[in-house]
Amino acid sequence: MESLAAHPFSFYCFVHMAHSGMDGRYFLSYEHIHLSVRALADRIRGEGFHPDLIVAIGSGGFIPARILKTFLEIPIFTVGISYYGPDNKPGPAPRAIQWIDEVEKKLAGRRILLVDEVDDSRVTLEYCLKELLKHSPAEIAVAVLHNKKKDKKGKLPPEIRRYFAGEELDDKWICYPWDARDITEHEKIARSGIAAH
Ligand code: G4P
Ligand code: MG
Repeated sequence: MESLAAHPFSFYCFVHMAHSGMDGRYFLSYEHIHLSVRALADRIRGEGFHPDLIVAIGSGGFIPARILKTFLEIPIFTVGISYYGPDNKPGPAPRAIQWIDEVEKKLAGRRILLVDEVDDSRVTLEYCLKELLKHSPAEIAVAVLHNKKKDKKGKLPPEIRRYFAGEELDDKWICYPWDARDITEHEKIARSGIAAH
């Protein structure tokens, strides 16, 4: 098991807790996520890290990145990576649906904040970090809303010294509001802590 403590980067977790429902899934409201992101932004700045730009991993990282922009006031570049198929099972490898070819040259010497919603297997994060490191940034830090406490298939390259996670969660499925078909029901469940079937 590759524990976070074994890494030479600063690790942050916040006391703002998500609760899992009766069926073991976590339901998170938009308000909960906004508050987590604000806390994350405070910690990033409190650590003295001043990123020049955000690289958001789509699609899950888009909304967290946009909320972070409200607090950090820096531009967002996006990359589209797909690892899970429609059946929510990992594919053979992360697939780049969209990459930032035209802006790659702008990364040299810049401080990048790589943003995603969840650090699950870490495979997508490793893929993106390795690609971005090819363009000689000054630093890349990682910010995720949630880190799942589990064995990680992917590894953070040794160049990564700062890793920020909004919350550390058990290895259960997280239901984000942007995936909800019925947002009214989703928000109700998220607020009550009672899981749907
Ligand atoms: P990691 O490197 O950041 O750990 O991610 P990993 O490759 O393991 O898997 C990323 C994919 O898995 C993403 O979907 C992510 O949204 C999805 N995922 C993993 N755990 C959860 C979870 O608990 N809840 C939800 N809602 N999604 C989860 P993707 O298909 O690669 O892209 P997209 O959905 O972001 O477009
Ligand atoms: Mg997904």
